[in-house]
Amino acid sequence: MSRIAYVNGRYLPHGDAVVHIEDRGYQFADGVYEVCEVRGAKLVDAPRHLARLGRSLSELKIAAPMSLPALTAVLRETVSRNRIVNGLVYIQVTRGVARRDHAFPPQGTAPSLVVTARRLDFVANEKIAADGVAVITLPEDRWARVDIKSVSLLPNVLAKQAAREQGAREAWYVDVAGYVTEGAASNAWIVSRDGKLVTRKLGRDILPGITRSVLFDVIKAQGLQVEERPFTVEEAQGAREAFITSATQLVMPVVRIDGRPVGNGAPGLIATALRRDYHAHAAIG
Ligand code: PDD
Repeated sequence: MSRIAYVNGRYLPHGDAVVHIEDRGYQFADGVYEVCEVRGAKLVDAPRHLARLGRSLSELKIAAPMSLPALTAVLRETVSRNRIVNGLVYIQVTRGVARRDHAFPPQGTAPSLVVTARRLDFVANEKIAADGVAVITLPEDRWARVDIKSVSLLPNVLAKQAAREQGAREAWYVDVAGYVTEGAASNAWIVSRDGKLVTRKLGRDILPGITRSVLFDVIKAQGLQVEERPFTVEEAQGAREAFITSATQLVMPVVRIDGRPVGNGAPGLIATALRRDYHAHAAIG
């Protein structure tokens, strides 16, 4: 079955879905995005993802392309036209098409909206989670507003490629003080020696992950405690467990950091239990 993409008001065959060469997303990475999980053909945590999209847009003074109910309808329609059962839906909004000039285009320039959807291999992902993944660490080299989900992802692209070349699945950024900020496409967590869940507190230096926020409810329901504080690479390597969270990876156990095993080198019990219970706490619809 051929894929369908939504582009500025039209549903098009994927191969014909194009944006103008002077789209500011293409020229300046002047845009934002969201990735939302699709499970059982339904959207997972869409209201939270769309609220974050609204925040990213308003931080950058990009107009909303349409109302939230209309956008939700486009997401559902794109999922349905692509017959996605397990996968993801991708939303991108840019400042629109205008003659190349760094400053904002004239008032009234319509933002561009693209929505695509694709399948994820559910069985393969569960197998990866059962084995756990390796991460490498790299110096933080992104801009100072990574709380905005901008499509400007060049440092993240380079970090992921470095991870891949070293046989790892994710790269963790480390700030100048030696503390982990987050992954190139995920939030970073550990289970401390005293059994607490530790993750960096929200600020301009990490993306406020939706999976991270839902996980707080799962953690509470399991009677566990969270500490929102930074941790070093050494603490993570010596931790009981480590894991990453994102809409596409959910709770993914980390079993190696820069080549050193975490705990006994196998996925931890806590990460595995949090992954198992995640969708019971997510908003699915
Ligand atoms: N990435 N931090 C970064 C830098 C991310 O890119 C992501 C998500 C997260 C986790 O956020 P959430 O739980 O809302 O997915 C944290 C998406 C999946 C991506 O870029 O494909």
